[in-house]
Amino acid sequence: MACPASPLTVEDLTFCWPTGQPALRHCNLSIPRAGLWMLVGSNGSGKSTLLRCITGLLQPQAGRIDTDLRPALVFQNPDHQLLLPSCGSDLMIGLRGPMDTDQRQQVVHQALGQVGLLGFEQRPIHTLSGGQKQRLAIAGTLAAQADLLLLDEPTALLDPESQREVLHLIRRLCSDPAKPLTALWITHRLEELNLCDGAALMEGGLVGPWCNGASMRSQLAPLPEGQA
Ligand SMILES: Nc1ncnc2c1ncn2[C@@H]1O[C@H](COP(=O)(O)OP(=O)(O)OP(=O)(O)O)[C@@H](O)[C@H]1O
Ligand SMILES: [Mg+2]
Repeated sequence: MACPASPLTVEDLTFCWPTGQPALRHCNLSIPRAGLWMLVGSNGSGKSTLLRCITGLLQPQAGRIDTDLRPALVFQNPDHQLLLPSCGSDLMIGLRGPMDTDQRQQVVHQALGQVGLLGFEQRPIHTLSGGQKQRLAIAGTLAAQADLLLLDEPTALLDPESQREVLHLIRRLCSDPAKPLTALWITHRLEELNLCDGAALMEGGLVGPWCNGASMRSQLAPLPEGQA
C-alpha cells in the first residue's frame, strides 16, 4: 500500500534487462519520512538498477514509483557527472527556471556554500580533490532544486577524511529543520550505517524492511566471538 506521507514509494517494481535477466522482482520500498536512508546488499542485488529506475534513467516493465520530490543521482565517481571546466559554470548548467544573471549567481553561490565550497566559482574542476568533486556534484543537485538525493556508493572512491565529510554533509542536509532533504544512499561501507535514519537490505531484486542502521551493521558484520 502506498503511504501518502511517504517522500518516496516504490510498488511492485519489475525490471528485466534486454537479455531477459531480472534485476528487480516485484520490488517494494517506502521511505517513511525525510532523512538519510541507506540500502545495503551484495553485488548484483539490484541496488543501482533501483536508483536508476527511480530517476527515470531506466524504464521498469511493471510497477509504480510515487514521489512529489525532484530526484537527482550522485554517482560513485564524480568525474562522471561534472561536465564544465569551472565549479561555477558546472552548477550554472543545471539551474532550473527563468532567472536573471544575479539570481543565477546567487543560487550557485548558495549551493557552493551549502557544501563547504564557498568562493569556488572560478576554480577549475581538475584542481579539486576527490572529496571536493563529490561535494561539488552534490552542490549541483541542490542548485537544480533536487530534494530527493539518490547516492550510489558516493564515498567508495574517497579517502577516510573525504568519506566522513561527504557523509556528514548529507547527514546535515537531511536534518535541516527548515527543509530536510530525503536521501537514499547505497553503501558497502558498513560503518556508514551508524549515521542513517534507517537501513534496508536488498537481496535478489527485493528490498527488505527498514531497520536501525547500527543493528543492521552488527547483523552484517558481527563482532568476533568474545567481543561484546
Ligand atoms: N547494463 C546491464 N546489462 C545487463 N545486465 C545488467 C546491466 N547492469 C546490471 N546488470 C545486471 O543487473 C543485476 C543488478 O545489477 P546492479 O548493478 O543493479 O546491482 P548492484 O546491487 O548495484 O551491485 P553492486 O553492489 O555491484 O554495485 C546484476 O545481475 C547485473 O549483472
Ligand atoms: Mg551498484
